[in-house]
Amino acid sequence: MKTAPRFASRGVKLALAALAAMTVLSALVGFLWLPRVQPDFMQGGLWDAICRAAGVPSSWSTPSLSQEDRDATRVAMVPLPATYAGGDVGRGGTLALRCTMCHGARGVSASDVPNLAGQYPEVVHKQLLDYKNAHRAHALMQALSENLSDQDLRDLAAFYAQLPRPAPAPESVAVPAVVSVGDPLRNIAPCASCHGGIDRKPGSPWLEGMPQAYLAAQMRQYASGARRNDPHGVMRNVARQMKPQEIDAAARYYASRAIVGAHPEAPR
Ligand code: HEC
Ligand code: HEC
Repeated sequence: MKTAPRFASRGVKLALAALAAMTVLSALVGFLWLPRVQPDFMQGGLWDAICRAAGVPSSWSTPSLSQEDRDATRVAMVPLPATYAGGDVGRGGTLALRCTMCHGARGVSASDVPNLAGQYPEVVHKQLLDYKNAHRAHALMQALSENLSDQDLRDLAAFYAQLPRPAPAPESVAVPAVVSVGDPLRNIAPCASCHGGIDRKPGSPWLEGMPQAYLAAQMRQYASGARRNDPHGVMRNVARQMKPQEIDAAARYYASRAIVGAHPEAPR
């Protein structure tokens, strides 16, 4: 057997070592050093960063939304000014004549129907759109919104947004802990961090003075999944973790926060 000359094999080894070193170095530069300029580069961890630098589609590593979550709603939430730019208050007032028998002439209901007076316009618009698209189930409201155009919904939202809310009530019910501080151990953020008090997140309805029975029913529907039009499951995740007494206490508290004139369940 004729072996290769010693100097040749040494040259090859050197070349291979140099090549390996270059490969490692350029991978480090290409996958880690250069992409560092992106502010969220390491957000998903080292492996995710490398995959992203290599151009792997992010859907391979992030689980895709379940069908249920994709169906949840098609409405994206953006904060809107109190007077809704997209809607015509006058036209909304005319359309609202069909709504007064349940929601009250001034948007405050005398039965267990949600109040609409002073409700954030993006909330009224979204909820109506969700009924219309069957993302929120309620036979009556679905039938009523079916034939309304998007402009109709905006006009209605603008009309209700400018109606005065019922006056705030003096503190009569102690603030439940779940409202003011939540429960970190059960992953419950304080209600007040989204619904006002601490902070308000766009799309979170104004709850003060809503009928107690309505509020409790909605939370139970989120908990059971019967209502699932909340974006990213924000309310389902909260309601599922709540004990029945906590749901009732939160509903009683929010219902007591405004003086709703003719309301039979008005705070005593
Ligand atoms: C026959 C009674 C009735 C009429 C008429 C009616 N609604 Fe409703 N509405 C309800 C009930 C009951 C609910 C609560 C449904 C649920 O549990 O999802 C509701 C819910 C809503 C909500 C959701 C509120 C929230 O806080 O999530 C909006 C918005 C709304 N209605 C707007 C309207 C508008 C606008 C009209 C007129 C075009 C109208 N409704 C006519 C009974 C009625
Ligand atoms: C992370 C933000 C967030 C937190 C925390 C939160 N909510 Fe909500 N809540 C929302 C959003 C957003 C909606 C509207 C979802 C939709 O479109 O269906 C909502 C809807 C609701 C509704 C339905 C109101 C209506 O008129 O349709 C009730 C009732 C409610 N929340 C009560 C609570 C209570 C009580 C708590 C505390 C235990 C709480 N929420 C905590 C964001 C939040």
